Amino acid sequence: MDALQKARQYEDANRIVAEKRPVFHATPPIGWMNDPNGFSVYQEKIHLFYQYYPYSPQWGTMHWGHLTTEDLVHWEDCPAALAPDEGYDKDGCFSGSAIETESGHALLYTGVSTDDSGEHTVQTQCLAVGDGVNYKKIAENPVIAGNLLPEGFSRAHFRDPKVWKSKEGYHMVVGSCDENENGQILLFTGKDLTHWEYACVLAHNGGALGRMWECPDFFELDGKSVLICSPQDMRAKGYEFHNGNNSLYFLGDYDKENRRFLKGEPRSLDYGLDFYAAQTTCLPDGRRVLIGWMQSWDASFIPQDQRWKGMMTLPRELSVRDGRVIQKPVRELARYHKNKVSVKDQIVEGEKQFDGVNGRVIDVTIKIRSGSFEEFWIDLAKNKEYYTRFVINKKKNIIEIDRTYSNLIRDVACIRRAALPKSEEALTLRFILDRNSIELFVNEGEMVMSTVIYTPLAAQEILFFCEGSAIVNIEKYDIG
Ligand code: FRU
Repeated sequence: MDALQKARQYEDANRIVAEKRPVFHATPPIGWMNDPNGFSVYQEKIHLFYQYYPYSPQWGTMHWGHLTTEDLVHWEDCPAALAPDEGYDKDGCFSGSAIETESGHALLYTGVSTDDSGEHTVQTQCLAVGDGVNYKKIAENPVIAGNLLPEGFSRAHFRDPKVWKSKEGYHMVVGSCDENENGQILLFTGKDLTHWEYACVLAHNGGALGRMWECPDFFELDGKSVLICSPQDMRAKGYEFHNGNNSLYFLGDYDKENRRFLKGEPRSLDYGLDFYAAQTTCLPDGRRVLIGWMQSWDASFIPQDQRWKGMMTLPRELSVRDGRVIQKPVRELARYHKNKVSVKDQIVEGEKQFDGVNGRVIDVTIKIRSGSFEEFWIDLAKNKEYYTRFVINKKKNIIEIDRTYSNLIRDVACIRRAALPKSEEALTLRFILDRNSIELFVNEGEMVMSTVIYTPLAAQEILFFCEGSAIVNIEKYDIG
């Protein structure tokens, strides 16, 4: 039996039942999931592939798993799309992207293998074309190998192609390292998806922002250009870049003719404990939507009896406001709102709970309108034993997440702090919970914090605490 057939049979025989997976977040049917790959629209359906190892909840020789969705909220498992079954990808089908073409749905991915000596890893860019279910690797693979690279650029760290089309032809950004092992993003151009030319270094880490730059994406947004990448091995700076491997964006201007990207300051896409390798796609209605892997490479945990690991964030709609990328949960989520509970102008002094404001599959917005306090916190997924706490510290102007008591029985990072965006008016905190995760959108998407929790589902309460006094408004929906 070939490797793909084996994976498909395995996932069919071992699929985790829906009750044991998040309700509206993309997860693998069994085994391990990392980066989102090939986020794209093909024949009017949204497809999401992902880094996948079906046989264990640990990273292994990478396959591409496959999901589709009509609404970015409910995901349908499709059979695994790619398996490492060719000489050029025998050590893994690493991350990449997808695009609709006249001859089918094209997947561009990184093939990982070793050179003839068997000692050196080689990464090349490869193409598979299919009908939305079955994909065939083309005979000409790899379509981009090390021979196209300038002297000195790494052949071992050359991965994660993101492809797009313009009227000039095809374009592709790929993560890379220069001769000093500094991260950079390379641009390629192609008249079709098989014949490519090296164009330039689109961006470079300047020896400062981590090492290898993984998982690039490059697109236009509200008249600006945005480069996304995920640098490995970052050093923390103030409240920024604490996750070791981080997903960043640069907002800038792209001079197409001279192929120069004038990039602004690096900014974190997410300030939670679990976020990496974000990728975007453009929907037919023009929205640019981003999805990330909601897990940290270094600090993660699953309960012992759980046979899947890794999930995606809720997709986010992107826009630009005041020189920043704004991220909002996809509007489709509101279609699944039910059982509305509202709380109007209530004072919180000390501890407080509100009738009906609880749950683990919910969308809850809390507006802290005014008040005099130093600290205000919200405990979610709480019962007598467990909680995950979000603390607003007004004096320091920071927000802190603490999941120490979320049922985490391994020594992994539990606390993260981030500077709060400045706001004259009310502070708006929108929490989206889906069994095993909490995503917080601050002030209509100015800042996001995504974090995984494996707290037993019996912990449903939400508790408010104010050291001083505050006035809150709350709107809560179950999602179903
Ligand atoms: C990022 C990454 C990619 C690579 C993939 C392997 O998380 O390291 O660069 O393609 O994961 O699974």
